[in-house]
Amino acid sequence: MMAQKQLLSLCGVGRQLPSGGKMLTILDAVDLVIAEGEFVAVLGPSGSGKSTLLALMAGLDRPSTGSISIRGERIDGLSEDRLALMRRHTIGFVFQSFQLLGNFTARENVMLPMELLGRSDARTRADELLESVGLAERGHHYPTQLSGGEQQRVALARAFAPKPALLLADEPTGNLDGATGRVVLDLLAGMRASEGATLVLVTHDPAVAALADRRIHLRDGRIEHEETN
Ligand SMILES: Nc1ncnc2c1ncn2[C@@H]1O[C@H](COP(=O)(O)OP(=O)(O)O)[C@@H](O)[C@H]1O
Ligand SMILES: [Mg+2]
Repeated sequence: MMAQKQLLSLCGVGRQLPSGGKMLTILDAVDLVIAEGEFVAVLGPSGSGKSTLLALMAGLDRPSTGSISIRGERIDGLSEDRLALMRRHTIGFVFQSFQLLGNFTARENVMLPMELLGRSDARTRADELLESVGLAERGHHYPTQLSGGEQQRVALARAFAPKPALLLADEPTGNLDGATGRVVLDLLAGMRASEGATLVLVTHDPAVAALADRRIHLRDGRIEHEETN
């Protein structure tokens, strides 16, 4: 295999939270290196720490121990402002619950992250992205006027809009029926390829996980085992 540049690295990452007077260990000494362009699936039972892991990768949460680096730069100690800037430039996030802004149209939701970066082509690219998720005619619709599957397709377009190096998706089909979820996952895989993003996807679907370059199995906050294609 060709030597690949590393995008993300976690070294001895732990996350503890106080609970009922004692400390609860949610993640424990996680070591993980993800290469540029890699597609990694994260699997594991409910409560095993998958969402916590993704939140740490996104800089939405901070590790209690260990270090997290993106392209060799530590992010775990950055100020909130620097973290927000890093996220804006580098990270796309797709949530189970879509998380579109209700007062904005589909197009405006997709434009927003590009406008925050000062991109003058935000409108054009938003329309291209909406077309690529099959919603060219729905740009003026508000989230409540869209089905769950359509909302998640808008959320995909929004996540890819700033051309993030790292796309994180936490059970993006968890609120969708099987057929709709399949469409969303196909779009996610297609956009990941065409946009050239590194993808970390939490999924319970073994067929989808099989498409990944690597599968990481979490249990009780630890990497239990991993498989590479
Ligand atoms: N803010 C929090 N406070 C207390 N416990 C939490 C918090 N966030 C997560 N947990 C606990 O940490 C464990 C892992 O949570 P999570 O990362 O959401 O797991 P998963 O996504 O795999 O279901 C669970 O037991 C959960 O209840
Ligand atoms: Mg979760």
